[in-house]
Amino acid sequence: MTSASVMTPQQLYEKLKNVRVGGHVCQYSLKKCEELVLLINEINRLKKEKDAVILVHSYVSPELVYGIADFVGDSYKLSRDAIKTKAKTIIFVAVRFMGETAKIVNPGKEVLVPAREAGCTLADAIKAEDVRRLKKEFPGYTFVCYVNTSAEVKAECEVCVTSANVYQVVERIPSDKIYFLPDKFMGQNLKNEMAKRGVKKDIQYFSGTCYVHEEYTAEQIFKVRTEYPDVRIVSHPECNAEVVANSDFVGGTEQMLDYMRKTKAKQFLMLTECGLSSRLQSEFPDKELVGSCSLCKYMKSNTLEDVLRVLQNPSAHERIEIAEDVRVRALKSLEAMFKYAEPGMPKKVVCE
Ligand code: 13P
Ligand code: SF4
Repeated sequence: MTSASVMTPQQLYEKLKNVRVGGHVCQYSLKKCEELVLLINEINRLKKEKDAVILVHSYVSPELVYGIADFVGDSYKLSRDAIKTKAKTIIFVAVRFMGETAKIVNPGKEVLVPAREAGCTLADAIKAEDVRRLKKEFPGYTFVCYVNTSAEVKAECEVCVTSANVYQVVERIPSDKIYFLPDKFMGQNLKNEMAKRGVKKDIQYFSGTCYVHEEYTAEQIFKVRTEYPDVRIVSHPECNAEVVANSDFVGGTEQMLDYMRKTKAKQFLMLTECGLSSRLQSEFPDKELVGSCSLCKYMKSNTLEDVLRVLQNPSAHERIEIAEDVRVRALKSLEAMFKYAEPGMPKKVVCE
């Protein structure tokens, strides 16, 4: 998705008029769009002047997704987009660990994260010293980290995964002892999926959770299915095992959108952050969203004002810096992920 250089309020309104999730923060009138395009057009002008590219995760507010993004997607797609870009500066409108991933593959570029609260309950659940301790407790295990981890944690692990490739990558790792971190629900789902595929691996996992996805329950699914018998339940692998077992489709956020694009069903319950529901309403207006969604306060702490500010004058905490020895070791876990996820991809992914 490429943002046009000058956007009219009507063009923005066409994208946002069907968005009805998350209460008043995510509802748009033509009048509101008139105000928003002033900021949007200034950001789009400045990013050209400064040779910057804007990467936006689908969870952030829709005016950022449809107003200023050069690339939109999940953490896997955006990490691939970060490798491809030739721009001098990357503005990563998401959370800190995603900006760090872009910096790991782009040491020569400036990477800026404008979020006021750039954390993530998963990435914040584990530190490098925890991994070093666990490695002593679990000798002989291959340490696999979810991409929702800091660069320091990635540097301690052998292979990184995202929600889009966790099953495929772990199946292909030539080791029958896996320690997965930090998400306990994804760890349990991984264990169940490997058993379903007949893959014999001893899988241990850490105790972290995503505070958004841990709220969903199988009871919510049963209730919605009674009311809407044809509904498709679409969930993220950060949900618990019972939710996953009772879903029609489970995948990363980009795969969830792809499933909805391809399936003929009309009604969906999305068990993930509201940003995905907004994209469904904007891009598939003939499909109906049932039930509710939850907001990630970290992703939603990105605003147009913040993006403009970092383009004009970034402060130190918005600039991603990673010690070179940590970056080099973290890169190895990302390269291992690309090797198992896309065997044909060139071995070196770093952009000098
Ligand atoms: P995706 O990679 O599926 O977009 O997930 C990122 C995330 O933070 C989910 O909560
Ligand atoms: Fe982290 Fe959960 Fe927010 Fe995703 S939704 S960024 S896992 S806190």
